[in-house]
Amino acid sequence: MLFTSVLRALPASLLFAGVHSGPVEHKRQTSVDSYVTSQAAISINGVLANIGSDGSKSQGAAAGIVVASPSKSSPDCEYPMSLDYYIDWYTWTRDSALTYKALVERFISGDTSLRSKLDQYVSAQAYLQTVSNPSGGPNTGGLGEPKFNVDRTAFTGAWGRPQRDGPPLRATALVIYANWLVANGNTTQAVNVLWPVIANDLAYAVKYWNQTGFDLWEEVNGSSFFTLAATHRALVEGAALATKLGKTCDGCASAAPQVLCFLQSFWTGSYIDSNINVNDGRTGKDVNSIISSIHTFDPASNCTDATFQPCSSRALLNHKAVTDSFRTVYGINKGIAQGQAVAVGRYSEDVYYNGNPWYLATLAAAEQLYSAIYQWNKIGSITVDAVSLPFFKDLLPSITAGTYASGSATFTSIISAVKTYGDGYIAVVQKYTPSNGGLAEQFDKSSGSPLSAVDLTWSYAAFLTAAERRAGVVSPTWGESSNNVPPTSCILAPSCSVQITFNERVTTTFGDNIFVVGQLTELGNWDPNSAKPLSASKYTSSDPLWYATISLPASTSFAYKYIRKTSSGTVMWESDPNRSYSTPSGCGSTATVSDTWR
Ligand SMILES: *[C@@H]1O[C@H](CO)[C@@H](O)[C@H](O)[C@H]1NC(C)=O
Ligand SMILES: *[C@@H]1O[C@H](CO)[C@@H](O)[C@H](O)[C@H]1NC(C)=O
Ligand SMILES: *[C@@H]1O[C@H](CO)[C@@H](O)[C@H](O)[C@H]1NC(C)=O
Ligand SMILES: *[C@@H]1O[C@H](CO)[C@@H](O)[C@H](O)[C@H]1NC(C)=O
Ligand SMILES: *[C@@H]1O[C@H](CO)[C@@H](O)[C@H](O)[C@H]1NC(C)=O
Repeated sequence: MLFTSVLRALPASLLFAGVHSGPVEHKRQTSVDSYVTSQAAISINGVLANIGSDGSKSQGAAAGIVVASPSKSSPDCEYPMSLDYYIDWYTWTRDSALTYKALVERFISGDTSLRSKLDQYVSAQAYLQTVSNPSGGPNTGGLGEPKFNVDRTAFTGAWGRPQRDGPPLRATALVIYANWLVANGNTTQAVNVLWPVIANDLAYAVKYWNQTGFDLWEEVNGSSFFTLAATHRALVEGAALATKLGKTCDGCASAAPQVLCFLQSFWTGSYIDSNINVNDGRTGKDVNSIISSIHTFDPASNCTDATFQPCSSRALLNHKAVTDSFRTVYGINKGIAQGQAVAVGRYSEDVYYNGNPWYLATLAAAEQLYSAIYQWNKIGSITVDAVSLPFFKDLLPSITAGTYASGSATFTSIISAVKTYGDGYIAVVQKYTPSNGGLAEQFDKSSGSPLSAVDLTWSYAAFLTAAERRAGVVSPTWGESSNNVPPTSCILAPSCSVQITFNERVTTTFGDNIFVVGQLTELGNWDPNSAKPLSASKYTSSDPLWYATISLPASTSFAYKYIRKTSSGTVMWESDPNRSYSTPSGCGSTATVSDTWR
């Protein structure tokens, strides 16, 4: 959500002062069950309050726009408040999509009152896709812009951009809704209103998945596990939706296995390295990977390692590695035994607000465990292997590798221990939540007091999804089980190119040749010796046409000129100014440029 370097310029005394500095009140001693019920009610209200235009804490935000945090609505708080106002009174594509995924799931499971909010989200996002911004225009990378002003205008300040997780996350939220519309007799709405928005996001994902960008914490410019995992899921379900709607999703079906192939390289053998293709000086143990696992959870899957399903051996060992990495760095985790829940942050090297646990991170640790329980119950067995054994041993020290069928004593003990362990994370959240149930972004690693942005929408959404998984309420399948085998070797994304025909009308004499030269490698980088030749095969005295069709990268602007080389080898350039052209966006598309020598 927040971009650390904005804060680096500010004095630490202001940053670490804390938003609500009163002592934490550990007043509730209710059971986890009743806490979950009451906090879930607070959380849905917390989410809705932050959605424009009628949310009680989001006045001024356009309809369907999710405000990251309404920090300005807490006038009793002092300076860091205005800092949070400055930082969080925006709408992020990622946070909005994750929030709306939770709302769509809630709608599908019976809360029909959310229908108009869902439709407003669709309209708001359709509009935002058209807003040119510092990441680009609608077809030239602009969908990777991380955040916008709440009135839907572009944010033009410095930021960590692009962030490539927004489009696939939004596609997923919309695909789930579109599938529901189709299943409920409203294919028209899915085709006419949702599909165009989804198609734009999928086209973005196809085009950019193999390029670096900023991670979900807006700090690291590399390849983020979370972004790639979200991309894989969106491409799989997007391709299936396209087929269902009689549409095409260019490149989706072919890119998906390649993304899955690339995802395998994040696995170190003992945990997921959350950021690669970057030298960030971190271990890579980051709740990024746990959030990925809960986002790509498929209730119909089989604990697949390749897709890092919540119950997969890899994701369980990773859960241990990531949560263990916080045991020693936070004072409030001191004295908590191995195998018992702790407060979880983003990554142990975090320095934002001096590095603290986050509510949404601690909730994600719980949600992965609840999702795994759902999967084991569905499958009817639990397999403990060499990879997952250390995770299970923390909970049941005498356990050994093996497959334990539902009904066996070991199966029952594992389910019970994992449930207790998950509930432990909820209890940590409960312990450090103020009595009004307000969920900020972070809580202090030493005192447990809430810190940073107040009423963080994503914190509330994270509570809702954890509570649903705990109750066995899950999202529909996204097709994981038939899309979980990576190819044996990975290939680079085929470049997205377009075929441009250059038509140049120029009267020439025998022995002259015409070339195009310009700013792109494909056009010789302005070097006449590397210019591309045009053909005179259609040349007539009445139509002196020279032409060539050249493959160029899509969505690219460049300058160029034509040159004439005479039989004696003299190079003659066209007169100034340079010509300019922008290639179209669709991979494989064609276009023609018609020029006359000047
Ligand atoms: C289809 O969904 C839209 C959006 O919710 C709604 O306005 C419309 O009435 C629905 N149409 C039908 C036939 O259900
Ligand atoms: C692109 O994909 C290849 C093949 O999976 C991978 O090795 C490479 O690191 C990727 N690069 C980026 C920037 O995504
Ligand atoms: C992020 O990295 C890519 C290449 O890895 C680079 O082209 C881009 O300029 C970087 N962006 C920023 C803001 O540093
Ligand atoms: C699920 O995984 C188990 C263990 O790897 C395997 O034996 C079983 O065939 C798988 N089932 C399906 C439906 O893929
Ligand atoms: C045309 O582009 C070349 C290469 O970038 C540049 O050197 C030259 O100044 C440009 N000409 C004009 C008139 O802008």
